[in-house]
Amino acid sequence: MDSRPHDRLDELQRDPYPYYARARDAEGLTFVAELDAWLVARDADVREVLRRADDFSSAGALRPDAIPAPAALAVLGGGFGGRPVVVGADGDRHQELRAPIVKGLSPARVADVVPYAAERAAALVDAFVNGDQGSTGEHKGGRVELMSAYARRLPGEVIGRIVGLDPADIPAVVHGGYRAEELLFRPLAEDEQIAVAQDVVATQRILDRYARARHAEPREDLCTDIVASVTATGDGDAAPELTLGQRHEAVSHLQNLLIAGHLTTTALIGTTVLHLLRHPDQWELLCAEPERIPAAVEEAARYDTALQGFRRVTTRPVTLAGTELPAGATLFVAFGAANRDGVRHPGPDDFDITRSPVRHLAFGFGAHACPGSQLAREQLRLTLQELTSRLPGLRPAEDHPVTMRPTMIHRSPLSLHLTW
Ligand code: HEM
Repeated sequence: MDSRPHDRLDELQRDPYPYYARARDAEGLTFVAELDAWLVARDADVREVLRRADDFSSAGALRPDAIPAPAALAVLGGGFGGRPVVVGADGDRHQELRAPIVKGLSPARVADVVPYAAERAAALVDAFVNGDQGSTGEHKGGRVELMSAYARRLPGEVIGRIVGLDPADIPAVVHGGYRAEELLFRPLAEDEQIAVAQDVVATQRILDRYARARHAEPREDLCTDIVASVTATGDGDAAPELTLGQRHEAVSHLQNLLIAGHLTTTALIGTTVLHLLRHPDQWELLCAEPERIPAAVEEAARYDTALQGFRRVTTRPVTLAGTELPAGATLFVAFGAANRDGVRHPGPDDFDITRSPVRHLAFGFGAHACPGSQLAREQLRLTLQELTSRLPGLRPAEDHPVTMRPTMIHRSPLSLHLTW
């Protein structure tokens, strides 16, 4: 583990907004030691970096904050993955890696999954409103911890359906996603790292099983598209079995896609409900006028986005916002900071679902813009439809103050206890 001040990193992760405000007001760029990077915080500067993909490479976009200990790396060595994936690729290779994902998350595929997502959203709310037995009755006086009962469940089930996973495998795959994040982004003791690495490898083995099965028997799902993309030979003839290298590649893509698909959406469900309920006037307005739900989703994504930022590395000496950077400089491109830039969003620190829509950067922009944004938005919409129509009396439970998860990539409440 490196010697960076983890307690200060933790503080920044739980509330990055004061750091962002200082960096937006400062001249040029600000180097933030906790992030070990130049913080790009103004909306115009973030857009410029994203536009100049040749100068600002995505290699290392997901550079870990914690380097696992050798014993944990040895465990990981027994698994699959570790190959370059779409978020960290540039140029033509990036386009090749992105193509099957864009196809698999096309508007038509998203539209196909919406009825299933609606059914699951309703069933998850049923389960905590009525109890698992489905008994009906008086719904006043209930309580729920929304993250575990709902937010950590719906997105995994939905992306699992698109990828083509058996519902029985989804809890393990979702768990594996959180464990991978912990291993790479949290300081852990060595024995914890080993246990976490074992869980990550167990998930990789599940995904490898799918990759081989879809290669043998293709289906209409995103897993099949990804496997086809790693076996594409150009002459149309695929070998009967995946090579070891192809298995590593397929698992890397699947693991990345699943993590990108569920942890982010889970996080945004949590923060969206949190901020709406912290602003009871906005919640009441939404319950009275549910046609405002799409605008509320955009405002929540702008105000406190899940993916606060990703890294970029300069490919040559460049000047950005008047700051000269050498080749190889690391930047933290903060979508979350740009979304609070008053130059683009007047009254940026006000949570206001009635504000005039202005394009925010919660889903990125340019070559790497999020291909799953429509899927995420649909799940947020379904969630707010369920909650506003069925539980308009929702409010934060006073006996459980909210703590944010310490992360820059899946910002959300650790838990969200609600009553009605
Ligand atoms: C609230 C939910 C989500 C948020 C806030 C979010 C945000 C983002 C952002 C900001 C990027 C750009 C990263 C960059 O420029 O380096 C991105 C990329 C990506 N997202 Fe999302 N995302 C969400 C949901 C999803 C979902 C549901 C999926 C898949 C089902 C997904 C898959 C991806 C992938 C594969 C990329 C990489 C694209 C590339 O590098 O070309 N995301 N996401």
